[in-house]
Amino acid sequence: MADDKKLIAVIPGDGIGPEVIAQAMRILELYRDKRGLPLELWQLDLGADRFLRDGTTYPKEVHARITSEASAVLLGALGDPRVPGLEHARDILFGLRFGLDLYANVRPVRALGDRLVPLRDRGARDVDMVIFRENTEGIYVGMGGQFKHGTRDEVAINEDVNTRKGVERLIRAGFEFARARGKKRVHMADKSNAMKHAHELWYRVFFEVAKEYRGIEARHVYVDAMCLFMVQDPAQFEVVVTCNLFGDIVTDLGAALQGGLGMAASANLHPKVARCCDDGHGDARVALFEPVHGSAPPLAGKDVANPLASVLTVGMMLAHLGWPEEETRLERLVARAIAEKKCTRDVGGDMGTRAVGDWVLGELAQGF
Ligand code: NAD
Ligand code: IPM
Ligand code: MN
Repeated sequence: MADDKKLIAVIPGDGIGPEVIAQAMRILELYRDKRGLPLELWQLDLGADRFLRDGTTYPKEVHARITSEASAVLLGALGDPRVPGLEHARDILFGLRFGLDLYANVRPVRALGDRLVPLRDRGARDVDMVIFRENTEGIYVGMGGQFKHGTRDEVAINEDVNTRKGVERLIRAGFEFARARGKKRVHMADKSNAMKHAHELWYRVFFEVAKEYRGIEARHVYVDAMCLFMVQDPAQFEVVVTCNLFGDIVTDLGAALQGGLGMAASANLHPKVARCCDDGHGDARVALFEPVHGSAPPLAGKDVANPLASVLTVGMMLAHLGWPEEETRLERLVARAIAEKKCTRDVGGDMGTRAVGDWVLGELAQGF
């Protein structure tokens, strides 16, 4: 039935974005054509090329159609040295994250093979956590300004905005996830020792909410210490909730434990949690899926970018759309690509982006 169709907006973006998203698109097309999943793909010409051509960043009509008709958005990456101010990247990325109120940026830090873990005497079993990054507040709101720009007296300010609702819903989403997945511990990473206003709120709300989740241990960790523990003993982390900026930073560190940015996937969601999300949208709200990595300009156009983060991102998207078994299937396939060295150089193989895509597609088609 046409009503069951899931419209997926695809924004390949800049740099390596189009190369890795091309492989993700082939997987989605295979699911549509050979598996009969009711997917409709809508590729959008947005990114640096378009911005340089006609000044378009993120048109209102596109946002309106995504909001009313799409089930998901798949994004490659944005960022191009020809647009040093990154206007287009911010408009598109934050237009989606803020505009769709996707307050939870869910970033699994999971190693899919022992040899991907760069730590001595550690393996895949030690790297298995999910980071819940607040995605609509913090210093990302863009409040602030510059004063006396370019003079010796200049002032530059970015405000760090933390609301009760924003903090609470993200923390609840982390605990709900822990409960649903049988996890035993949730960490909250902050800098409440230095940021006495903003992060006192995080600290207080975290332990308040934690009381409702008996059986799940709630632990506080300062984010600087967390960086230390991520390297010394990552096995202690199961679910971590944190603010926008810290979540951005620790997930790049997390990516290093997974084998690099070419292996890290993410979902931007609006989970429906009690008391915070009674807005009538619930989980039906369109969600955004993107690899954690950026546009990696030095790798662009060379067929060397690792497409596996995008393959895993497609898995997260299919799970969200109602096919969780396909996420498991894609994860297993990626683990096998690593084990059998059917992968790019960054993760120890010698294949190109497209060839890895060919291999994934061939194996996937056989499994159907
Ligand atoms: P980056 O993620 O593009 O690259 C960081 C490092 O990881 C580089 O060494 C790169 O070669 C490597 N890397 C990244 N993806 C890889 C892949 N798929 N396969 C193999 N190696 C990979 O980060 P950066 O260099 O700091 O940023 C480049 C641009 O991307 C900037 O404009 C930045 O703002 C933007 N960016 C965009 C997003 C996004 O759109 N979501 C995310 C991060 C950075
Ligand atoms: C990410 C990126 C973005 C962020 C940049 C491009 C604004 O680093 O998605 O991790 O900081 O959120
Ligand atoms: Mn980042």
